[in-house]
Amino acid sequence: MPGGCGAVGPPPHRTMKLTLRIVATLILIIATVAFVFTWTQVRTEQSRLLQELERRSELLSDSLQPYISALHQNSDPATLTNLAEKFSGRERLAGIALIAPDGNILEISRALVEHWGLPDRGQAVPETTSGSFRAGSGRLHVRTVPLVYLGIEDHRLQVYHSVAFIEERARRIWQQNFLRVFVQALAIALATLLVVYLNVMYPMRRATNWVRRIRMGDARLEPDRRDDHLLGPLVREVRKMASSLESARLAAEEEARLRLQSESLWTAERLKEFVRIRLAGRPIFVISNREPYVHSRKGKGIEWIKPASGLVTAIEPILKACGGTWVAQGSGDADRQTVDENDRLRVPPEEPQYTLRRVWLAKEEEDGFYYGFSNEGLWPLCHVAHTRPMFRESDWLDYEAVNRKFADALLQEMADTTEPFVLVQDYHFALLPRMIKQKRPDARIAIFWHIPWPNPESFGICPWQKEILDGMLGADLIGFHTQFHCNNFMETVDRALESRIDYEHFTVLRQGQTTSVKPFPISISFTEERPADGPVAPADVLKPHGVEAEMIGLGVDRLDYTKGILERFRAVETFLERNPRYEGKFTFVQIGAPSRSLIPRYQEFESDVQREAERINAKYKQKRWKPIVLLIRHHSQEEILPYYRAADVCLVTSLHDGMNLVAKEYVASRNDDKGVLVLSQFTGASRELLDSIVVNPYDISQLADAIRTAVEMPEAERTRRMREMRAVVRERNIYRWAADLIGDLSRIRLDEPVTPP
Ligand code: F6P
Repeated sequence: MPGGCGAVGPPPHRTMKLTLRIVATLILIIATVAFVFTWTQVRTEQSRLLQELERRSELLSDSLQPYISALHQNSDPATLTNLAEKFSGRERLAGIALIAPDGNILEISRALVEHWGLPDRGQAVPETTSGSFRAGSGRLHVRTVPLVYLGIEDHRLQVYHSVAFIEERARRIWQQNFLRVFVQALAIALATLLVVYLNVMYPMRRATNWVRRIRMGDARLEPDRRDDHLLGPLVREVRKMASSLESARLAAEEEARLRLQSESLWTAERLKEFVRIRLAGRPIFVISNREPYVHSRKGKGIEWIKPASGLVTAIEPILKACGGTWVAQGSGDADRQTVDENDRLRVPPEEPQYTLRRVWLAKEEEDGFYYGFSNEGLWPLCHVAHTRPMFRESDWLDYEAVNRKFADALLQEMADTTEPFVLVQDYHFALLPRMIKQKRPDARIAIFWHIPWPNPESFGICPWQKEILDGMLGADLIGFHTQFHCNNFMETVDRALESRIDYEHFTVLRQGQTTSVKPFPISISFTEERPADGPVAPADVLKPHGVEAEMIGLGVDRLDYTKGILERFRAVETFLERNPRYEGKFTFVQIGAPSRSLIPRYQEFESDVQREAERINAKYKQKRWKPIVLLIRHHSQEEILPYYRAADVCLVTSLHDGMNLVAKEYVASRNDDKGVLVLSQFTGASRELLDSIVVNPYDISQLADAIRTAVEMPEAERTRRMREMRAVVRERNIYRWAADLIGDLSRIRLDEPVTPP
């Protein structure tokens, strides 16, 4: 049987011993102080009373002198005897004695002889002639004065006083003080006990109980506020300890759970540690066109937004975890106002963790590089979504020039770093790996292609395909979302370039440099506890738009013709046609972030989307209901979250998509295990989220049926699917993606000599 003990705080007898020790010490100190005081007081009182006695004796002897002299003259012993008796027993006076010149007693009060045992008449006087001495059963005080007659000293007078009253007085003082000290000590002991119990022992017992319950796992428990005065700092420390303990416990539980599944969860912390070891403290350099924070003017102030970008969603958690520098185009109208003299700023604005280096493009450069070659050329070329790619030579020249400009900025940023790690992002920078490698052969470079790679025939129509492929092959590692895209790339290289291709290791050898090609399915930072955790009802998100419905379908996209938004709308229309019982009950919300709005095809697409929504709404609209709510504006992640959590079904119907992180975001936000994902088979995500309802978005009929299947799916089935998908996203999160990519890049052997220029 396992051992253990459950005592709360120290055992009572130990506490009692401690308290008694405190009380005993206190009493000892009080008694010692009281003794010294009493002793001093008694001594003072004794000497005061003796002085008083002396004074009285003096007065008495002075006043007796004339009488005694007269008596002496008459030599009348009887009168003398009477006088001696007269003074005995008065005011503590024990008696008097008259001493003859020969030292014998001439006359003495009877009491002195009978009661105090002094010698009688005719006998010699006691030895003490002044001060106090022991006599009979007590003590006497004597004062001797000479009697002067006619200027001659012959006889002496002795005045005796009893000093018993002085002893009595001293005894009374000792007695009173003892009693007082006893009562005081008792009161102090009781008060000490009470104070110690109420202010120390009792709070300590409560706090011990609290700490014990924390140890046993109840970290949410709060300590008693009343104990703050005593335990304030301690409580703060213990509270911190409790939360670390709780995180450690959760991590350990999660770790244990995953170990059971022979998996291991990647977290921000784990990635940070991994990167620290792998990169030996060197910073990471990320380069992308889209920046993670865009600053723009609003009234007299400046505000920032995070752009709607899967790339930003994926890459930012890595830089937040590991630090480093992100080089990107400054695109906001207040971007220049927020950087330093080196065009840098620390971000995120609310809690800086890495450096953003902005690169400025002239309008013409941006037109040719971004709108032109990247988004009218490469984007439709790679997506094969039936929008014709446009290739203009001027755009190509801008593309080259801007790649060079970014390469220069990056070279500047990493000038002081040996063997820097460079993660180039996306199709905007196909030429950049070669440009960097030529200048910095010691750099480890990876380029991740966030969009699909088409088959060689499709890619082959690009007039600059060789330059693009060569530029990319300057990298040590090229990543795509899927193996399928890797295969397409290898085949394209095979057809277009002089190179040696190794299909076994998936490498390309060209001009002495080896490049690995590998799939790295990108993801998001899955966190269990997301904000706005409570359930969200359809009414909560529909009410502001004046719509009432029982069920919600949701789409979240940039307004891009590759996303299948029109197909989605038509599927909603067909669904209502086939299932009229959902009229007035099911509303589809489309959040659409305006994107690349200067490109005519995008302008045209936005109008198409608006027109199609209006057409369908006009067909079905009721007083307080409509089938489609179209929200065209930028929404922050916090704004989108309630829609995710309210949506019975999320439609991701891209005609072609590298990965599609909306699908993963939706799954991650459903920690209630509710909601159904309808997912295009042409997304990278469909290879991982096998429990979604996979559809061909070109097949409107199938899509409409998928909506019905989703909204009518039995709860148990819905929960099972969502749990499976959540487990996938949790485990294949962005930290694992980064660890795989950085791990592979760090393992690659550089072909060129590793020396900076
Ligand atoms: O999906 C490809 C992609 O480049 C993403 O990486 C990015 O999130 C998205 O397009 C946004 O595009 P843009 O930067 O042109 O708005």
